[in-house]
Amino acid sequence: MLAVTEPLSTPRLLLRPFRPDDADDLYEMRTCPDVLRHLYWPAASRNEVREVINARLTMNTLAAENDYLVLAVERRDTGRMIGEVDLCWTSVEHRHAEFGAILHPAGQGHGYAREASEALLGLAFDRLGLHRVTARTDARNAAAVRGLRRLGLRQEGHLRQCVRFDGKWHDELIFAILAEEWAAGRRGTVVGAFGDGPNGEPGSPKGAQEA
Ligand SMILES: CC(C)(COP(=O)(O)OP(=O)(O)OC[C@H]1O[C@@H](n2cnc3c(N)ncnc32)[C@H](O)[C@@H]1OP(=O)(O)O)[C@@H](O)C(=O)NCCC(=O)NCCS
Repeated sequence: MLAVTEPLSTPRLLLRPFRPDDADDLYEMRTCPDVLRHLYWPAASRNEVREVINARLTMNTLAAENDYLVLAVERRDTGRMIGEVDLCWTSVEHRHAEFGAILHPAGQGHGYAREASEALLGLAFDRLGLHRVTARTDARNAAAVRGLRRLGLRQEGHLRQCVRFDGKWHDELIFAILAEEWAAGRRGTVVGAFGDGPNGEPGSPKGAQEA
């Protein structure tokens, strides 16, 4: 089990549970054509965003299969909510999860998606003890594909005409990273979002509790 009760700090970001006052920023993201281009859902109404926020207020714990952890991504320097990251515990028995990231265009191109995603993968592997984490993306989503590869995920599949949105069929790519690959990256080129501890051990994010 993993519960995020306090904001997690990375060098430039806070990853924290959603709050009711995130509604305006989330509405902006959920109606922005640049954000929605490769996502599988249409623009949301104000009411739908309120429902999404209400659901997310309690999505801070992974306790059972198919639980979702969804965290708002906030810039520490401005306090602005610029996006969200999510982790779904897809199999308890096989220790799998799937993750995703969405940033408002104002937050894109600065490495924030990578920083937030590294923190989330750190929770998945180092705190929850998962064996394998996957991600899916529209095959045309070049920014997502580039980001996933930079995080150390490998492409494992190309599903032809797998999803339908905007009245058309779209291909989907499946990416994955194993615990051993994550650990090797942390020892090597991947710079952990948490920083290292005093004796060189991977640092711990504040705010995450295991049970
Ligand atoms: C996918 C998505 C999250 C990627 O965001 P992003 O901003 O491209 O990714 P990053 O935050 O890692 O930023 C990458 C860029 O920041 C730059 N960067 C990296 N670290 C940096 C740092 N510390 N300081 C400044 N810039 C930095 C890099 O040069 C990189 O640019 P490049 O790839 O052109 O070389 C974003 O495009 C998005 O939200 N899209 C809409 C929703 C979506 O499609 N989500 C994915 C669904 S699967």
